[in-house]
Amino acid sequence: MSKVENFISFAKRLYPDKSLIGLHEPIFKGNEKKYTERCIDSTFVSSVGEFVTGFEISISEFTKIPYAVACVNGTAALHMALILSGVEQNDEVLTQALTFVATANAISYCKAQPIFIDSDRRRLGMGADSLRNFLNEYGDVRNDGFCYNKKTNRRIKACVPMHVFGHPVDLEEILKICDQFKITLIEDAAESLGSTYKNHHTGFYGHVSILSFNGNKTITTGGGGMILTRDKELAARAKHLTTTAKNPHKWEFYHDEIGYNYRLPNINAALGVAQMEYLSEILDNKRKTAMEYKTFFQNSEFEFINEPTDSKSNFWLNAILLKSKTERDQFLQDTNENGVMTRPVWALMNELKQFSAAQTTDLTNAIYLRDHLVNIPSSYRKSL
Ligand SMILES: Cc1ncc(COP(=O)(O)O)c(C=O)c1O
Repeated sequence: MSKVENFISFAKRLYPDKSLIGLHEPIFKGNEKKYTERCIDSTFVSSVGEFVTGFEISISEFTKIPYAVACVNGTAALHMALILSGVEQNDEVLTQALTFVATANAISYCKAQPIFIDSDRRRLGMGADSLRNFLNEYGDVRNDGFCYNKKTNRRIKACVPMHVFGHPVDLEEILKICDQFKITLIEDAAESLGSTYKNHHTGFYGHVSILSFNGNKTITTGGGGMILTRDKELAARAKHLTTTAKNPHKWEFYHDEIGYNYRLPNINAALGVAQMEYLSEILDNKRKTAMEYKTFFQNSEFEFINEPTDSKSNFWLNAILLKSKTERDQFLQDTNENGVMTRPVWALMNELKQFSAAQTTDLTNAIYLRDHLVNIPSSYRKSL
């Protein structure tokens, strides 16, 4: 048997009851129907209802991050996180070249410019060394207390690392660099619900952070996101801005600034509350699968991406590295033709025409990962 055939039969043993094994399918085995039915029966399906607050409390308790504000999706939550961090038109925001497009899109919604930093080859997300080198060369903290880019003369306001596939970036190092250069840290933790770095849930280190509950994530609300912060005032402002900036009053409509309709509907939050009731079991189940993959790939030419030693990953999407791009392409073709869904990673952000003018660092690691990495089936396993 070839090594790809060997992998295909292993994946089929992991997911025995599937003719087509997906990459990440949602699982609904708790109170999802009961709670969504309650929304329908009570007519509270939209912007008012008990589940939004319930979902926020349950995320906040789970992550141990004091304030959580539900949003209509992760992209909206990111947009809001940037606004809450004071990102303005013509500012620059540091992020990584290897990320999902939403990270860079949200920066553009603020009419700010992204700068793309290289990846950490082991952690997959933003490389602390690459960030430090960039800021040592271009960062200039001026008398107004802000960091400016020596090349463009624009203010560098924020830094948005993303925890790729749930593997945490080196948050302590990145925060240290951000503090040194007076740059606000925002964590795009869209993919990392359940992941911890040095015993803190991802999102803890950021001034503001976000999660996503899109259909392909560890838990889903259909569409949904969450703003996380340790700052009470910031959380109140997040709630205000995401609910059209309306001043509370029984019948009067007064909105004291331009707000957003970014509130998560109650019916979506109902799904979230139900999913949170067994999140720990989902995480255990996914970890078991990851460890089985790790053992399987131990004596193989394929390199399994394990969690960083200082972190616990949620293993949202398991990934392997292949020896070459040619081998990767063959692997993608053979697996997908044989009912095992696998996917390459995203194009680098600077390769998309809308971001092609952006400043970047040397992107050796990001290019390596782009050409060698493949995601493999990672859904919850009912058979476990
Ligand atoms: C890294 C990252 N950021 C942001 C998002 C955006 O989240 P959403 O799809 O909920 O808008 C996603 C995924 O969907 C993501 O993977």
